[in-house]
Amino acid sequence: MFSQLPTPILDPILSLSVAYRSDPRSEKVDLGIGVYKNSAGETPVMKAISQAQDIVVATQKTKSYVGLAGCEEFNQSMVNLLLDGTSAMDRVAGIQTPGASGALRMLGDLMKVAQPNTTIWISNPSYVNHRPVMEAAGLKVKHYHYFSPETKQVDVARMLDDLSTAGPDDVVLLHGCCHNPTGADIDFDAWKVITQLAQKNGFTPFVDIAYQGFGDGLEQDAQGLRYMADNVEEMLITTSCSKNFGLYRERTGAAIVVGKSQHDVNNAKGKLMTLARATYTMPPDHGAALVKTILQNQELTAVWKQELSEMQQRLLNLRKILCNELRNNYNTSQFDFIESHKGMFTVLGFSQDQMARLREEYGIYGVGDGRINVAGLTERDIPYVAQAIVNVA
Ligand code: LMR
Repeated sequence: MFSQLPTPILDPILSLSVAYRSDPRSEKVDLGIGVYKNSAGETPVMKAISQAQDIVVATQKTKSYVGLAGCEEFNQSMVNLLLDGTSAMDRVAGIQTPGASGALRMLGDLMKVAQPNTTIWISNPSYVNHRPVMEAAGLKVKHYHYFSPETKQVDVARMLDDLSTAGPDDVVLLHGCCHNPTGADIDFDAWKVITQLAQKNGFTPFVDIAYQGFGDGLEQDAQGLRYMADNVEEMLITTSCSKNFGLYRERTGAAIVVGKSQHDVNNAKGKLMTLARATYTMPPDHGAALVKTILQNQELTAVWKQELSEMQQRLLNLRKILCNELRNNYNTSQFDFIESHKGMFTVLGFSQDQMARLREEYGIYGVGDGRINVAGLTERDIPYVAQAIVNVA
């Protein structure tokens, strides 16, 4: 049976971590996978998470099963975090999932059952796992223009042009904030225009929001999503606690549907639970138990918000220091765009070969598509990384 299998293609992001770890050089920098690091180069357990963990350990009485939808208080907390104050709160339902990739797959499977002819449109470029997950769910995938390699910003005109051809059998996948991999986000006006297009042409928006709080702040990062949820009949949402709660390995996310009525979304939720049963039965509990504990406790919520805001400020600062280094020491404004990007990532505009040179000559590991994880930098690394960037450019 197995001899028929082809040699596996390595995941372009996860394989980098393995290669980085086995690189014997002492001067090396991991800017591959999207993980936040502090100034000491560590990815610490957040304080709010540690405190919640103490509470969970002290109060949890059983490890018995939770249920197909996971923890319902967690699900409600995620809905509140994303959609609070919108009219969608009366016609929404969600399930807890193993990370946002699990949520993407569950919603992919749901679309395949609810509307088998669905074509899903994803940005070009997009998160490397978007296409594989949607294809694994049996959906057709199309790309819409998104990033301009010249300006390093979103090419909104071409994006809207492409989306104006999407119709009722189509689902348009948007990044809620902090676009992965480019770091270039659409502005609120573009959210409004896409919402109008969805209303007029009948496509369904799907918002993947994995970095809420890392761009302009928790509320601001959900502004486009909330506007859309207020104004369209149906919508799909995936979210993750990997980054903003630092729960990477706990695989904590949610798949959320907004529908025409509570009756409709209850049916969608029921179907999602059946799909989960046939895939993994129920999600792992620990991460969701911690998030629920934080979001149901005002003091812990305040601790978490403060930490998240410090992480966001640190990212802005790292972008600024890197740009200053490039401007002041190498007299180049070629990389000024890095400061205008949001969240963890920036696309440098380098080819696969240039990214390979960064890796081979300097031990700097970014993704082959030109993405670097700014959140993986430390202040100490910046002069070295800036010099390597200039040498390779
Ligand atoms: C990333 O894009 O680096 C992260 O979202 C990790 C992943 O799952 O690929």
